[in-house]
Amino acid sequence: ELAESPAVRRLSDWDAAALQELVDDYGSPLYVLDLERVRENYRRLESAFPDAEILYAVKANALSDVLEALSEEGAGLECASAGEVKRALEASESGADVHYTAVNPPARDLDWVVDAWEAYPDLTITVGAEDTIDRLEERGYDGRLCLRVNPGIGAGHHEKVQTGAAAKFGVPAERAVDVLADAAERGFDVVGIHAHVGSGVSSDQLDDHREFVSRMGDLARSVESEIGGLEFVDVGGGFGVPYREDKEPLDLEAVAEATRDALGEVDARLTVEPGRYFVADAGVLLTDVNTVKEARDTLAVGVDAGMTTLLRPAMYDAYHPIRNLTAALEGDAGESVRETVPQTIAGPICESGDVFCSDRDLPASERGDVLAIGNAGAYGYEMANQYNSRPRPASVVLESETRRASDDGDTARLARRRETFDDVTRPETNRSRSADGDA
Ligand code: LLP
Repeated sequence: ELAESPAVRRLSDWDAAALQELVDDYGSPLYVLDLERVRENYRRLESAFPDAEILYAVKANALSDVLEALSEEGAGLECASAGEVKRALEASESGADVHYTAVNPPARDLDWVVDAWEAYPDLTITVGAEDTIDRLEERGYDGRLCLRVNPGIGAGHHEKVQTGAAAKFGVPAERAVDVLADAAERGFDVVGIHAHVGSGVSSDQLDDHREFVSRMGDLARSVESEIGGLEFVDVGGGFGVPYREDKEPLDLEAVAEATRDALGEVDARLTVEPGRYFVADAGVLLTDVNTVKEARDTLAVGVDAGMTTLLRPAMYDAYHPIRNLTAALEGDAGESVRETVPQTIAGPICESGDVFCSDRDLPASERGDVLAIGNAGAYGYEMANQYNSRPRPASVVLESETRRASDDGDTARLARRRETFDDVTRPETNRSRSADGDA
């Protein structure tokens, strides 16, 4: 089965006609997520890390359909907020699979999670500051505790996503043994150590990964000898996926081997918690072309998705592949017959940074075309926002015929409706506005 699941799904592997039809049915912009692909990605990672506990980093895509599919495959859920813990507990069978990684946790989050712990005593809280331990103790928490350390080394696709050395994350690894000893003495159930080096780690950063896991191995051995055994060592997520068409996938086996070597004889289970790896290439964002104009130095193509729909290009200069589905469908065998011209594809937001690509060679766009933006399944909808009072888009999931709930012959299902103008203004309390405006 895995042999049939390629390590990478390129944008050109998607069925252009089927995607175009989804826009006809559900409108634009539209996120599409293939749940079967999410499951395949999970199984591939599981076969590279057969003995590890695998948690899914919910922040990459928190859609309940994704959480349910991955829970069903056997993943635990790593959460970055009380809101994510709430979703995770709803999706998973038990709290034992749920880890809450508290980063400068607001009081409201700690209150909520400690409350939930009463009902789910097996959940794990990962803390990255001694303050957080004090605050948990004040709330009567003495459950499962994991310490996030700052290993002093970062990696990842952009400096903004390198967490391993960033001041805000974790307790410096040198202090970890003391902090854990103190927590154990205070009655917490000390179960693990954790660190996350960064996000989007590629094969050419394998040496950084090796150095990182070897520091984790050293730390685990010190903890074992000075405090006692741990249940798990969590080395975070961060496994990169190729966004450029010519880039090779991460060598997962090499990552797994380096990790096993570094932990060596440590008597604790390995835990990994990737997010992007499971969902990135399972998702595309579809968007309509509404404007084509000769700008001063480039052909400017306006689309209805923008930085409010997919923030990554504006925030990290992230590259996402783009395919003109309409042009592809005009030619034979999905090859466009249109002339290729450099173009700048931009959204409707009043910011000059609201562009998906600059001067990229693509088939000449025409008004009414549908474009697909690839690798949009991770940190896509999750980072969408309502800037410019723009409602967030709809999301459709694709399911295999055997799993689909309905028997209408359709494998696509609306998973999250498009927001309305009312969704944007609903929290406002201005008395001069009627409670139910127009969508
Ligand atoms: N564990 C922890 C503690 C994390 O902070 C993260 C990501 C993960 C796991 C999952 O990392 P992944 O496997 O998905 O790389 N918005 C950025 C990515 C930010 C990631 C933050 N932390 C982006 O779009 O590239």
